[in-house]
Amino acid sequence: MSEHRIELTVNGHRHAALVEARTSLGEFLREELGYTGTHLACEHGVCGACTVMVDGVAMRSCLMLAVQANGGAVTTVEGLAEPDGTLHPVQQALKDNFGLQCGFCTPGVAITMAAVTRENEGAGAGQIEKALTAAMSGHICRCTGYQGIRRAIRQLAGATT
Ligand code: FES
Ligand code: FES
Repeated sequence: MSEHRIELTVNGHRHAALVEARTSLGEFLREELGYTGTHLACEHGVCGACTVMVDGVAMRSCLMLAVQANGGAVTTVEGLAEPDGTLHPVQQALKDNFGLQCGFCTPGVAITMAAVTRENEGAGAGQIEKALTAAMSGHICRCTGYQGIRRAIRQLAGATT
């Protein structure tokens, strides 16, 4: 199997490594770099648990090869909070609204929410809520029935009720 040298940043930290061509970005993040907050479950693009941001865009890290992230800037769930531990607004909203139970799906949910809120910065509450709700169709949560996640979305969107 051929190996390739890649360089990328993860949560602001620079990494260089030799990776096999077949290694997924998710596997590389978890097994080589230790970012185990990125969860791998279905590994065929359905569940959303493996979602990370690559250059600001939410991506399935099980469907993306590590070599495709060469030169990119990756954000995992470990990179969402501030260095002093202050939660990202998305994390705070999920916490405030019981938008998680076992937490397995949560890293992917939080990354997608962070990407979508950033993409919709400055938009009205209705548009943000709609965009976030649509984005959640790409995430499977076995625990919450999505109600807590929906409440978190409304909080993030600035909805009043
Ligand atoms: S593990 Fe990537 S979408 Fe399920
Ligand atoms: S909180 Fe358990 S799968 Fe979503």
